[in-house]
Amino acid sequence: MTRPIRCSSKLQPMSEREKSPLWGGRFGASPAEAFEDLNASISFDVRLAPYDIRGSIAHARMLGEKGIISTEEAEELVRGLGAVLEEVESGRFTWTLADEDVHTAVERRLREVSGEVALKLHTGRSRNDQVALDLHLFVRDAAASISDALLETMRALFEVAERRQDLILPGYTHLQRAQPILLSHHLLAHFRAFERDLTRLYAAREAANVSPLGAAALGGTPHPIDPSLTAGALGMQPLVNSLDAVSERDFALDLLYALAVLGVHLSRLGEEWVTWTSSEFGFATLDDSYSSGSSIMPQKKNPDAYELMRGKAGRLIGNLNALLITLKGLPLGYSKDLQEDKEPLFDSVDSVLGILAVLPEMLRTASFDGERMARAAGGFALATELADFLAARGVPFREAHRAVGQLVRRCEEKGIRLEDVSDEDLTAAHPTLANLPRELLTPEGSVANKKSSGSTSPGSVEEQLRQARELLRGLQG
Ligand code: ARG
Repeated sequence: MTRPIRCSSKLQPMSEREKSPLWGGRFGASPAEAFEDLNASISFDVRLAPYDIRGSIAHARMLGEKGIISTEEAEELVRGLGAVLEEVESGRFTWTLADEDVHTAVERRLREVSGEVALKLHTGRSRNDQVALDLHLFVRDAAASISDALLETMRALFEVAERRQDLILPGYTHLQRAQPILLSHHLLAHFRAFERDLTRLYAAREAANVSPLGAAALGGTPHPIDPSLTAGALGMQPLVNSLDAVSERDFALDLLYALAVLGVHLSRLGEEWVTWTSSEFGFATLDDSYSSGSSIMPQKKNPDAYELMRGKAGRLIGNLNALLITLKGLPLGYSKDLQEDKEPLFDSVDSVLGILAVLPEMLRTASFDGERMARAAGGFALATELADFLAARGVPFREAHRAVGQLVRRCEEKGIRLEDVSDEDLTAAHPTLANLPRELLTPEGSVANKKSSGSTSPGSVEEQLRQARELLRGLQG
């Protein structure tokens, strides 16, 4: 699985600052420390370093190919950048606060490694292009890693759905028992939601696959650069409009939106498992390796992971809002506000990957109390079955509904379950109920009686499983 790379950053203390930033030529004084702290993004953008260096390698090669620098100079730059990348990936790179951001840090280190030739690398490009490129590459990778992780969750849902076609639980409306449904049907409903999430993730990956290199800050450059060469080297499409290329963060919004919706889906699944594993429901038990205890109550076994899944939706939605609000009203061209795009994005990606790292095994290892589920799926949850039975025999549905409603009331008065109702009471509720086959008054009979496509009947669920199997097979690669 391709994961966005995290740099093990060693940030040097303040005392080791250099006093002249790379843009310092026209300044008479060095930046005030508090301003430097506020302005710096190095503490969080170090994780973009591998992308930044890959972008620089593509840029250096292009400069060489187009004769903007000599072939030897290009080769030296590529060699030096390779060495810096190696330092970054092995965790030996030492970042300093004076570097301000990842782009400056890499350039500074390149100069230390390769000497004066490093000063030519920035020909025909700007940090604005670099940061936009780095973020595109990050989003492209993150969308791919999250899709992979989500697919694994879908595989787990599918496996449990396929394995436990014998289990029936109540489907709920208003969190009141409504009708019996197969557990597999329920799990496959979540599968469908994740399938749509996958589509959104693929779209976000596609949107990120455009290279802003060649914008040269905003308006292009007099140097004979070729943006399609750099884009091609990175497996991306080239920019169409240099101003748009440095201004837009739509691809990041696309990913944040996909993750916010995925977060909402995960939170709904999480909420269900929190209830299912409560003593009140008692439908499911989590494996010990995915539960936690209480520091005071020895009996507790808590579904923390599912609660976190529910809880993290808040920040996933918040992160999308944060970037939307940052972008709202920004003039075209780079503004420093855009530096605020990274932390929400990183946070959403990390949060979702964290959840998806545990969810598949949590689903696979949980156990179910089939008897308890089936019992909850019986009783008054079978009432619709009676109304449908009558309606199928020509009784207008509203009349059937009323008759069964009165029967439910009668059972409540007697304190009995619907399956235990006497033949006399059935007939008294409606004469046509005298012919009721009793197996309809069971959860199994009820689900088996569903005829419509996409329903919870075993046949329909078989068909849904077949479709899911095909989808997973197709996406296997
Ligand atoms: N650290 C900046 C960011 O994260 C990089 C771009 C800086 N560009 C500039 N013109 N100051 O957005």
